[in-house]
Amino acid sequence: MAAEEAYADAGWAQRAPDDRPYVVLNMVLSADGHAARDGVSGGLSVDRADRTVFLALREQVDAVLAGTGTIAAEGYRRLIPQPERRAKRAAAGLAPDPLACILSRSGDLPDAPLLTDPEQPRAIYTGDDADPRAALADLRTRHGIRTLLCEGGPGLNRALLAAGVVDELLLTLSPLLVGGPGAPAVAGEPLPDANRLDILSMFDHLGTLFLRYRIRPSSGSLPADG
Ligand SMILES: NC(=O)c1ccc[n+]([C@@H]2O[C@H](COP(=O)([O-])OP(=O)(O)OC[C@H]3O[C@@H](n4cnc5c(N)ncnc54)[C@H](OP(=O)(O)O)[C@@H]3O)[C@@H](O)[C@H]2O)c1
Repeated sequence: MAAEEAYADAGWAQRAPDDRPYVVLNMVLSADGHAARDGVSGGLSVDRADRTVFLALREQVDAVLAGTGTIAAEGYRRLIPQPERRAKRAAAGLAPDPLACILSRSGDLPDAPLLTDPEQPRAIYTGDDADPRAALADLRTRHGIRTLLCEGGPGLNRALLAAGVVDELLLTLSPLLVGGPGAPAVAGEPLPDANRLDILSMFDHLGTLFLRYRIRPSSGSLPADG
């Protein structure tokens, strides 16, 4: 199987609840659990496969959400700059450009091309409107968003997981040890409860593991040993 097919036909749109989009969180981690190398996630890829999957995911969702820290660190631009990829989306019945979603309680928005490119549709929520549940409800009811891909980072992920609004975790485990103290992983701070995951699929591309998990709706602590 080619890397771009790792999550083809995932059927996310059909699973969208009425009050929010179906939310899929995609993250890459090193084998020792780090979410960035030299401050960016691209340093965790050993070949093109992770990037290929990352871009293929953007092609199949209504909207993409990224944290302001990530948008700044990674210099986010128009999500799908390639006309052929936008044409592929349109042929599949989607808007040519996915909606870029930005949440910022402070209103301190990053200086990145994603926020200024006139071709990029955006939904920006600031202040109290940046509450994850409220923003997701608005995206579903006002913008008609059924599928939302969250691209991190750990600070935003933690808020979404704690609010119980993440349906799936797509975890790419890179065959790298990068070391370093206290770097963030999937969620930046301890979660109120451990989220229980059910594995849906696994794909090995030359040692990079693509793991698809469903997040159980009601989170709970892991059972004690014995
Ligand atoms: N490995 C991967 O797959 C991956 C993916 C993405 C990013 N990264 C890496 O992760 C790092 C960035 O992550 P990060 O955790 O610093 O930043 P982040 O999660 O991208 O963004 C955090 C920001 O989101 C805003 N936000 C809005 N609502 C929030 C809420 N309810 N709770 C928390 N924050 C909220 C906050 O700004 P306000 O205070 O204005 O609300 C906060 O400063 C970078 O090094 C990036 O390369 C790795």
